[in-house]
Amino acid sequence: MQSRYVSLATRPQGMPTLENFSILERELPVLEEGQVLVQNLWMSVDPYMRGRMEGISTYIEPFQIGEPLEGGCVGEILKSTHPKFRSGDKVVSGMEGGWQSHYISNGKGLMTVDESAAPLSLFLGPLGMTGFTAYAGLQRYGQPKPGETVFVSGAAGAVGSMVCQIAGILDCRVVASAGSEEKIKWLLDDLKVDAAFNYREGESIGKELARCCPQGVDVYFDNVGGEHLQAALNQANNFARFVMCGMIEQYNLEESPAGPNNLINIVGKRLKISGFVILDESDLQAEFVRQMSQWLAQGRIHYKETILEGLESAPEAFLGLFQGRNIGKMLVKL
Ligand SMILES: NC(=O)c1ccc[n+]([C@@H]2O[C@H](COP(=O)([O-])OP(=O)(O)OC[C@H]3O[C@@H](n4cnc5c(N)ncnc54)[C@H](OP(=O)(O)O)[C@@H]3O)[C@@H](O)[C@H]2O)c1
Repeated sequence: MQSRYVSLATRPQGMPTLENFSILERELPVLEEGQVLVQNLWMSVDPYMRGRMEGISTYIEPFQIGEPLEGGCVGEILKSTHPKFRSGDKVVSGMEGGWQSHYISNGKGLMTVDESAAPLSLFLGPLGMTGFTAYAGLQRYGQPKPGETVFVSGAAGAVGSMVCQIAGILDCRVVASAGSEEKIKWLLDDLKVDAAFNYREGESIGKELARCCPQGVDVYFDNVGGEHLQAALNQANNFARFVMCGMIEQYNLEESPAGPNNLINIVGKRLKISGFVILDESDLQAEFVRQMSQWLAQGRIHYKETILEGLESAPEAFLGLFQGRNIGKMLVKL
């Protein structure tokens, strides 16, 4: 069996380009006892993958040049010699499956999903890692109370759009920032946030945030960092909680970012700033699946997907994350 895969050709310097990626092919070995052969159907496209392209270990190992890029995917089992899986089963893989047409697994990290319960792509979005990041980050570290103001940056993205809606369900006042009028319209009209601004327009992020948050900010869910973080520090109420999920604004910078230069607010306002990585939150997984499935079934969670077709389009989809091309979850359909 031949498998086609996306790999790094070279490590990006600054903003990645299509030349940093190559599409390669390899022969998969014969299936051994206790293994499954999986054909991928959907691939997740995630900003955190940029960090793994740097060639340095962080909380996770770097990608290797010439090897398949690891990442979330949903696939179908074509053959199985594993007691837990049957051919025809649909499975989600958190990492090892990755950006490849087919792979062999010993079953570790694979989870069978029920395609009659939800469309398969949802297990990479609202019901998958991104939905779980929103749920665990907001609940555990944001600890929002009814009536509080929750500010979300990157609000029309995969994680951000879920945070906005969960905060709304929890009876918070939700303020959202995103990078286009189309995204702002979706946030206001469909996701029913209370206020939203386009950070690429208007006077400044600080002024827009102050206008949208007359009662200050009690929880800031940060997907962006930089000027958004600076503005949230200025607008924060005493004892506000900052959920540090990501800082996409700086993922492609070639020099250290300039700010924020107002960190003294952390002291005077007694802020609680919590970084988190979803890999540590597995104790909330069962509760998340139960709760999110219920909200979806009740029609209380809306979602959008930006879908590119074919393995070859994965690099383009990845670059699109940094151009704001996606609304909701960025996916590749195989
Ligand atoms: N801590 C964790 O465990 C964890 C897990 C998953 C994701 N994350 C982080 O969560 C964040 C969101 O991830 P996601 O998967 O939901 O991605 P996403 O928000 O669906 O996609 C990226 C979005 O970021 C925005 N963006 C890109 N460059 C930007 C810039 N320079 N300034 C401001 N906004 C920019 C774009 O929207 P606009 O049009 O609005 O600019 C783009 O659509 C990322 O920072 C990611 O690294 C963390």
